[in-house]
Amino acid sequence: MPSTRFLALAALFISASASTIVPPAQRGTPWSPTAEVTHLMTDMDSVVSTISSVNQKTGASAEAAPSDDVPPVAVTALDGTALNATVADVTSSTSTRRRSSPLLAREPAEPFVKRTRSYTQVFSGQAPGVEDAYVDGTAYLTYKLVNNGTYNVQECLDFCDSVDGCQFVNLYYEFNNPLLDFLFPQLSNLKCAAYADFHNATEKTNKGGIHPTNPFGIVGLPTKIGQSGGWACTEESNPPTPTGYDLVFGPTNGANNAPGYMGFAFLDRYDVQACADLCNSRGYDPVGGVCQYFNIWRAVVKGTPTTYTCSMYYIPADASSATNTGQGDLAVTLSRGYQRKTVVVDGGFEGFGCADDFCFAASYANWIGTTPTGGDLDATIFYFTTYAHTGHSSALLGAANGDDSLSGSISPAKALSTTKGANYVIQVFVANNFSDDVSEAGAFVDVFWNGKKVGSVVGYQGYTPAQFNVVGTGKDTLTFTGAGAPAWSFIDDVFVALL
Ligand SMILES: *[C@@H]1O[C@H](CO)[C@@H](O)[C@H](O)[C@H]1NC(C)=O
Ligand SMILES: *[C@@H]1O[C@H](CO)[C@@H](O)[C@H](O)[C@H]1NC(C)=O
Ligand SMILES: *[C@@H]1O[C@H](CO)[C@@H](O)[C@H](O)[C@H]1NC(C)=O
Ligand SMILES: *[C@@H]1O[C@H](CO)[C@@H](O)[C@H](O)[C@H]1NC(C)=O
Repeated sequence: MPSTRFLALAALFISASASTIVPPAQRGTPWSPTAEVTHLMTDMDSVVSTISSVNQKTGASAEAAPSDDVPPVAVTALDGTALNATVADVTSSTSTRRRSSPLLAREPAEPFVKRTRSYTQVFSGQAPGVEDAYVDGTAYLTYKLVNNGTYNVQECLDFCDSVDGCQFVNLYYEFNNPLLDFLFPQLSNLKCAAYADFHNATEKTNKGGIHPTNPFGIVGLPTKIGQSGGWACTEESNPPTPTGYDLVFGPTNGANNAPGYMGFAFLDRYDVQACADLCNSRGYDPVGGVCQYFNIWRAVVKGTPTTYTCSMYYIPADASSATNTGQGDLAVTLSRGYQRKTVVVDGGFEGFGCADDFCFAASYANWIGTTPTGGDLDATIFYFTTYAHTGHSSALLGAANGDDSLSGSISPAKALSTTKGANYVIQVFVANNFSDDVSEAGAFVDVFWNGKKVGSVVGYQGYTPAQFNVVGTGKDTLTFTGAGAPAWSFIDDVFVALL
């Protein structure tokens, strides 16, 4: 029968090809040398061209009701496309994962403690009776109608102290607005508008002049603005570092120009936590995997704050590449870099090495390889650049000498220190192509979290990132188990981070 003959031939071929493979322990290099992967660099041109398609400059419009509530942070552009969405809208629609556990979504709000910050007057208003204008500026939050028995600066500054993120207020009269004169219960025409960024007298561009929708159906006079003054909080504000991140550098006047770029978003205010939320929920890059770093900075165009950029990367960057200070009218300010933390100690196996350029071992301080009874070196760590995804070391599953076909396992030496109940993503780079495609056809790496299988990476492939979602218990074990030689698997750059 031809089919039987074919199967017999195929079997012969498999054993022949497997036996000619030089195993890893003997520095075999059967695959093509590691192809140069090209990583995208920061695309500043796209950032610059997108700036002209967003307008984030607003203020307390004549028709808006006063409110103590600050609207959620908005995303005004995503990867070059203008948008009108909240961060929550974006993270739930672009996410390849569940939302953050509510317990960790944000630091719990500190109980409100009334305190008085110090302010400086940035500009004063025109004399009474002279027409003025209010600020149309970025990062407008909300406004209050303060008691207009006097030009009530103190009540306005107290309001700023009570509004989360307020850095600046614009205090002015708005005349001829029937909503203020008759409808809103405060019965005051003195508006105190709060902003999360500083503004200049040059930004007093809105002279009113509109007829607000009149609740009485009477066409009144156009609104007029009077005595528009501005006050800035003089206390240094260092944004809190988001949970799961470390501040790497900043604030400086340089944005990162770095590889592993995943795209950018514009935010309506400088909100580090919002940028972290976007990074955590960013779709996985097919080459580089999860977002591991972000750079947030303020774009100032012709001296005026214009937008707040959040750039994301799968390769952590640092201050050394934060060299882009802007172009043309655009200046980069308040640039900060944040790196996403991993709970795995030495996930890249770089702590393993030797004086020579080649060595391997079953275990070392940070990782423990386990070989089943009767096997020989079925899980090992190699110091050899050729086998590594990055750096010089990686781990091998499958007999290092090719002398058995048993499944070895590898685990971090110590349980991972996690937050109980929090969601995590495990990322691992797996190469199942040490042997040829036939020998590797049945290759797999099974991933276990506290002994429970959470997924597998199967089949012939070069180094590719794979992700698995898990929940922390506080102290977790992570184990990778392979198919066995000649379906060897290399693993590298293990990363476990909060979602
Ligand atoms: C096998 O892996 C190496 C190293 O990652 C890579 O350079 C090569 O292109 C891979 N080959 C295939 C067919 O995937
Ligand atoms: C954004 O959306 C909100 C609510 O849907 C709407 O009130 C607002 O006018 C929109 N802003 C812009 C600039 O389109
Ligand atoms: C305060 O505002 C109300 C409502 O606009 C107005 O009727 C009143 O004249 C104002 N009082 C003063 C002292 O400006
Ligand atoms: C305020 O305006 C001056 C020029 O009039 C400019 O140099 C400065 O950078 C501005 N400050 C801010 C915070 O925009």
